[in-house]
Amino acid sequence: MNVHDSEKVVGTLMARGYTQVESPADARLVLYNTCSIRDKAEQKVFNRLQQFKRDAGRGKIFGVLGCVAQQEGEKIFDRAPHVSLVCGSASYTRLGEMLVQIEAGERRVTGLSLDTDETFDTPFTRRDNPHRAYITIIEGCDKSCAYCVVPFTRGPERSRTSESVVAEARRLAEQGYSEIQLLGQNVNSYRDPSPAGWNFAALLARVAEVPGIRRVRYTTSHPRDFGQDIVEAMDANPVLCDHVHLPVQSGSSRMLAAMDRLYTRDDYMRRIEWLKTAKRRYSITTDIIVGFPGETEEDFEQTLGLLDEVEYDSLFSFKYSPRPNTAALAMDDKIPDQEKQRRLVIVQEKQRAIQMRRNAEWIGRTVEALVEGRNQAMEQWIGRTSDNRTLNFTHPDGNGDSLIGRYVPIRVTRSGPNSLVGESATVV
Ligand code: 5AD
Ligand code: SF4
Repeated sequence: MNVHDSEKVVGTLMARGYTQVESPADARLVLYNTCSIRDKAEQKVFNRLQQFKRDAGRGKIFGVLGCVAQQEGEKIFDRAPHVSLVCGSASYTRLGEMLVQIEAGERRVTGLSLDTDETFDTPFTRRDNPHRAYITIIEGCDKSCAYCVVPFTRGPERSRTSESVVAEARRLAEQGYSEIQLLGQNVNSYRDPSPAGWNFAALLARVAEVPGIRRVRYTTSHPRDFGQDIVEAMDANPVLCDHVHLPVQSGSSRMLAAMDRLYTRDDYMRRIEWLKTAKRRYSITTDIIVGFPGETEEDFEQTLGLLDEVEYDSLFSFKYSPRPNTAALAMDDKIPDQEKQRRLVIVQEKQRAIQMRRNAEWIGRTVEALVEGRNQAMEQWIGRTSDNRTLNFTHPDGNGDSLIGRYVPIRVTRSGPNSLVGESATVV
């Protein structure tokens, strides 16, 4: 989501005559897009800004964008006095005007309103990848998970009209993009604000029908709003990729209630069942938080049990990190960092073994990969499968001709915990 926000910012500025340079050292204007989901991400911003402090005297202008900007607001000027612009994501459409103010000599300019009337249609987006494009379909979050800062930094939920989403997908297909990724903090809570009133499953089906689009992905889904109609839409059209990211956070219903996740372990497992009994084989990935306040050894064991039961294809795991404004800040029974670390390692080791096993099941099969890059040192191409696995492979056309952006059949020959290795399955 942040990557796509940066693409929008770059596009908007380029349309106003700015040019992008190779490195911050060459820039007169340096904008940091930031994340505040966990404390570590936030610390990184201030460390980076510190490194650039010297340059401020040399006529460089510094701005902080994104969630740390939204969360810390004008306090950023105190911590990093060389910053002259602080702007949250809901105010990006005003970025151009704000820069005019700075050019006119103003020292400190802010854009911190969470006004929801802003339009989604950012006409100028400079996409980094020539084959895969992101489209934001819903912004913000109306849930209130006890650990999460997002509702405070991204504001309330607002969906974009289905007409505008489909029009953007068509435009992208005409420009040669073949993969689209629909984005939203709760992408599947999408509700078309126009009279058509489509829900997420209906939107998915329509985007997948856009001529020229070969793959459609979406992230991130909230389990509570993940209806069976989404699985049915996916089953009906293989353009909708074989992958669902469904963050569970914990395997203990007691913890899920404390986190205010709005589902129990059983509710979650019902969704997993829909996916496992679907027409196609879907890869399922998740997010796990360990060490949420009050998490006992027994709660943690339940998370480990869930990992065995679901057998995720991949997961992201995090130590609980206290965030400003959130309900969990006031909760007792904090878990010491050392214990969080211990639990994190256990989760990661267990998952690694599961992935070794899951990935090995692919050996001998032929799968289609979208070629995304080249590893020159290894003399391999880097591809991605519909179910979101990285597949490194050799190919006879691969020496001079660039395969990047093509869809090629690859026979899987080896596997590791995080990727597959293969060779071209094309009959030469
Ligand atoms: N501490 C740790 N992990 C968090 N996440 C969100 N907020 C926190 C927090 N305060 C994780 C969740 C979410 C992912 C994007 O980040 O697992 O799904
Ligand atoms: Fe955060 Fe929960 Fe909203 Fe996801 S659903 S963005 S975890 S508050």
